[in-house]
Amino acid sequence: MTSRRRMVAGNWKLNGNREASVALANSVAKGHNGEVDVLICPGFAHLADVSSAIKGSGLLLGAQNCSAFESGAYTGEVAPGMLVEFACTHVIVGHSERRQLFAESSELVASKAIAVQKAGLCPILCVGETLEERESDQVEAIIGAQLDALLDVGGIEAFHNAVVAYEPVWAIGTGKTASPEQAQDVHAMIRAKIGKLDSACSDKLRILYGGSVKPDNAATLFSQTDIDGGLIGGASLKADDFLAICHATA
Ligand code: PGA
Repeated sequence: MTSRRRMVAGNWKLNGNREASVALANSVAKGHNGEVDVLICPGFAHLADVSSAIKGSGLLLGAQNCSAFESGAYTGEVAPGMLVEFACTHVIVGHSERRQLFAESSELVASKAIAVQKAGLCPILCVGETLEERESDQVEAIIGAQLDALLDVGGIEAFHNAVVAYEPVWAIGTGKTASPEQAQDVHAMIRAKIGKLDSACSDKLRILYGGSVKPDNAATLFSQTDIDGGLIGGASLKADDFLAICHATA
């Protein structure tokens, strides 16, 4: 099996102001040890300031969303190509908050992932089931369909330069974490599905877990065979907690 470099990504969501975002970025830049890929994803309006602040620090910069369009009459959208100018390397697509609160379909999410790749960036494709879907035994079907949407438009090639984040909706911001076994089961299912199409691709594919990851549960989650790091919301807003999570990947 290929050894996969670990990644911890901080999703700052709609929080803070320019000054607070730069201060948080500086603290993370100072404290990270370079042993894992550490990515921070501030809001669009803070990307320029944060990008300058972390220059040369080894931290990676990402966005939380983007448009599926490259340019044109799409008022209010931010194209992936614009993110390149801020030295972003990654874009989160299909976060459950986008799917649920902004009605983004798996087809739209897939087209965003492709647009991100066309701009030379790497999408972090979020997938995950709701509590009702878990309780009615639909985890595999739901996540399978979310992955199929990207396979349909981009084929297996779309997974060569992508990261997948498994984020059970019921665990996001709720303090309820999936147990390491529950998370591992889903990660293994995702890897097996990709592996059926291209085993080299699935060996290399990084699959992050997200949903109430905290300093005290990160190490057990990250020790699972198919969990290659985390996508962190709430705990990424405190530099000490986020850094403790980054260090828990060792
Ligand atoms: P959480 O959020 O860590 O606050 O649960 C995770 C996410 O939304 O990516």
